[in-house]
Amino acid sequence: MLPLSLQLQATAKAVAFVISGRSLNDVLADGSVVKPDLRSGVQALSFAVLRHLGMARALRQLLAAREPMPPVDALLCTALALLVCEANSGATYTDFTLVNQTVEAAKAHSKTRSSASFINATLRRFLRERDSLMMQASKSEEALYNHPQWWINQLRLEQPDRWEMILAANQIKPALSLRVNLAKTTMTVFTQLLAAQGVVCAEADTACGLVLQDAPAVQSLPHYADGWFSVQDLAAQGAARQLLSEDFLTRLIAGAQRGEKIRVLDACAAPGGKTTHLIELLIEALSRAGLWSGDASDWGKYFEVVALELDAKRAKRMHENLSRLKQRATVKIADAAKLESWWDGAPFDAVLLDAPCTASGIVRRHPDVRWLRRESDVAALSQMQFTLLQTLWPVVKPNGRLLYATCSIFSAEGNGVISRFIQTERQANKLDSHGLWLPTMSSLLHDGFYDALFEKRIEPV
Ligand SMILES: C[S@@+](CC[C@H](N)C(=O)[O-])C[C@H]1O[C@@H](n2cnc3c(N)ncnc32)[C@H](O)[C@@H]1O
Repeated sequence: MLPLSLQLQATAKAVAFVISGRSLNDVLADGSVVKPDLRSGVQALSFAVLRHLGMARALRQLLAAREPMPPVDALLCTALALLVCEANSGATYTDFTLVNQTVEAAKAHSKTRSSASFINATLRRFLRERDSLMMQASKSEEALYNHPQWWINQLRLEQPDRWEMILAANQIKPALSLRVNLAKTTMTVFTQLLAAQGVVCAEADTACGLVLQDAPAVQSLPHYADGWFSVQDLAAQGAARQLLSEDFLTRLIAGAQRGEKIRVLDACAAPGGKTTHLIELLIEALSRAGLWSGDASDWGKYFEVVALELDAKRAKRMHENLSRLKQRATVKIADAAKLESWWDGAPFDAVLLDAPCTASGIVRRHPDVRWLRRESDVAALSQMQFTLLQTLWPVVKPNGRLLYATCSIFSAEGNGVISRFIQTERQANKLDSHGLWLPTMSSLLHDGFYDALFEKRIEPV
């Protein structure tokens, strides 16, 4: 096993990059920051540190009169965060091991070497005075809730009864959620295969969702390579099903029976979690109608799913997912907001706009997000979401549907966008949909999410 000091040094570096504005995924994938053999350990430690960074920073302020140099500060805050969360993080080391290993990490590098004794003295003082220091630090909400103050203020304003529960839920390590590919297997068969492998799971009420406790690596789960399941949060699993609901699918399949190809657009698609779900739902419905035989010639005959993605690297991940699930889609690297760059003028029956957002609903899975976002991002993203929605509306067929979705729980990115849209688009008929999903303690099983479903009226009102 690699020495903890090496992992701590790399974690401090990763956390410092996040503080300077780089996403943790990006940092972890960068071999010049985190060596591949350290990656999984550093990821686990960074998650724990980022979940407790507010408290760690407040403690550091109480413990050090002057702000240390950034590399020393990062190492100190890393150690403090891990000391704070050790009790509930399942860590296998003691407080004293952690302090000793942090000091070793400091000694091993030129930028922190001269501060090793300062780090040692500071951390030992924390251990001696832990309770009173924690009490003092907790007077700051940023420390108490481990979120930026603007985020706490915004949530308290929007969710006066639930903001604390949401912040608490954001601190909890999420279970693994799967979407079973019902075009390939059944829930019964798949859960039996999991049980045979000793994997405990609970069925969610999403028709295809499973939640796994203490899951092994996804690649080792049954029929991963055959595309029998995808990793997808339960709230996100709701999106494709709301767009392609039973009644709407029945109408589309009737059209397919008359020879009308079903056209679906996923406007912001990578890594393809929802694109592949849309395709699964289409195949399921076509199979039920006796149209889909599974032959290669079926592809392209009954439906076309066009998937747009701005980021070429992310589009590559989409191709990988489509290929594992043995599905086909027309993937275009394009800006959805520039219709002239990708649209041939043929309208779509169904459009999914899973818009770029603050990701404020997926903080459990991405604990860096809260520290990366700025308050001004919310308004800027809300404007971008509105522009995308307005630009894409003309590509929807009369009587066709569009689902607007984000993984944010801030109202400016949900109802804020939708109310502007309804005022400007007279043909937009808002249908019932789930709306806002909050990640609270009582519904720990899913992320925060927002959706709104529209049908295009033939005549404007
Ligand atoms: C919320 S993610 C989509 C997640 C995806 N729907 C899924 O379920 O796997 C938003 C995606 O939209 C892409 N994106 C952002 N702006 C875009 C634009 N103007 N046109 C197309 N894609 C865009 C981002 O790169 C990102 O991959």
